[in-house]
Amino acid sequence: MAPSHWIDDGRPEVAFLGRSNVGKSSLINSLLMRKGLARTSNTPGRTQSINYFLINDSFYFVDLPGYGYAKVSKSMRADWGKMAEQYLSKPDGLVLCIQLIDSRHNPTEQDLQLNEWLIANGKPSLVAATKADKLSRNQLTKQLKVTAELLGSRDVLPYSSETGLGRDKLWAEIQKAVYPSS
Ligand code: GTP
Ligand code: MG
Repeated sequence: MAPSHWIDDGRPEVAFLGRSNVGKSSLINSLLMRKGLARTSNTPGRTQSINYFLINDSFYFVDLPGYGYAKVSKSMRADWGKMAEQYLSKPDGLVLCIQLIDSRHNPTEQDLQLNEWLIANGKPSLVAATKADKLSRNQLTKQLKVTAELLGSRDVLPYSSETGLGRDKLWAEIQKAVYPSS
């Protein structure tokens, strides 16, 4: 989606990033306790454009298309990189990037690249591990540790859109980013 379609009205933006099907739209719905707001699907590649959700008339959640969808062409994959880099490089508004990684698997090559890019470019970011309900407590603890290490010792917040695990913590982080002085 071209920059001309971006919203730039001075309100802070919280962006959700991750591979296709990782659970970005579900997480947004879970944060907002609104089931059908952001469209979710079993079919990877559901979110194709940048979707803005205005929250409390004061900031935006930005649902970005997922990356790494195997069925898209090489040029579309390159387009994702361009779109993301352009969006993430815009000068104003972006106060937090929430990178989502599937808690069941090690980060993919693209997950690692995105994580590095965010750090190298000084973007405020945090990592959440989605679908945590699909693992046992032990498995989850283990996998969170592995993921944190692979990401260069980052905190990784476990999240489940099914059970609400991690919801309060994630909201606390979002509030800190959006209302820094409060
Ligand atoms: P794209 O828009 O295609 O990039 O995908 P997305 O990252 O927005 O994923 P989406 O929220 O559409 O979720 C993909 C699938 O994973 C859906 O079938 C969801 O129901 C499922 N899912 C998402 N989050 C969770 C979760 O926390 N737990 C479980 N068990 N399933 C989840
Ligand atoms: Mg989506």
